[in-house]
Amino acid sequence: MKEHLGVLISEEEVSARIAEMAATLDQEYAGKTVHLIGILKGSVFFLCELAKRMTVPVTLDFMSVSSYGDGTSSSGIVKLNKDLDESIEDKHVIVVEDILDSGRTLSYLIQVLKGRNPKSLRVITLLDKPERRVIPVDLYMTGFEVPDRFVVGYGLDCAQKYRNLPYIGVIEQ
Ligand code: IMP
Ligand code: MG
Repeated sequence: MKEHLGVLISEEEVSARIAEMAATLDQEYAGKTVHLIGILKGSVFFLCELAKRMTVPVTLDFMSVSSYGDGTSSSGIVKLNKDLDESIEDKHVIVVEDILDSGRTLSYLIQVLKGRNPKSLRVITLLDKPERRVIPVDLYMTGFEVPDRFVVGYGLDCAQKYRNLPYIGVIEQ
């Protein structure tokens, strides 16, 4: 089946919003080093753009998780495929995720990371689909709220495709 893509959020809008988010973090973390944790693979485009625009010192690490589900929704059973390389003890950690949907993946991750004694722990996402929330997640900042539609691009995939789109698109069947 051929999928048709529509633009939900343009490249210019995404870029401008990420610059704003970076400026907010620079103010909030002035004088500190921020340890960004990207959740592979969806967060990488957002994380790179954000980190490039931040002026406070930044260190990076990555985690990979998969949550068993039917492909478009997660089950809540989260498997840790790749753990962090470094300890987060005493660090100012920001978890960077592509999208907050049911909240299952992030609530599991927050629980795991809190147990490792970071100095502070916050979560930011590029996108938030509040209508879909099943488990509440304390989100520090999000780029955009999006409606309950399957979105792709800027790191987000549909069966591994479309991650490299420079904008947020929606699949129109
Ligand atoms: P949650 O555990 O339901 O919050 O799922 C979050 C994960 O599901 C995200 O990190 C994405 O990988 C994936 N996801 C949720 N909604 C979408 C979407 O609209 N497009 C692409 N991936 C999505
Ligand atoms: Mg993801």
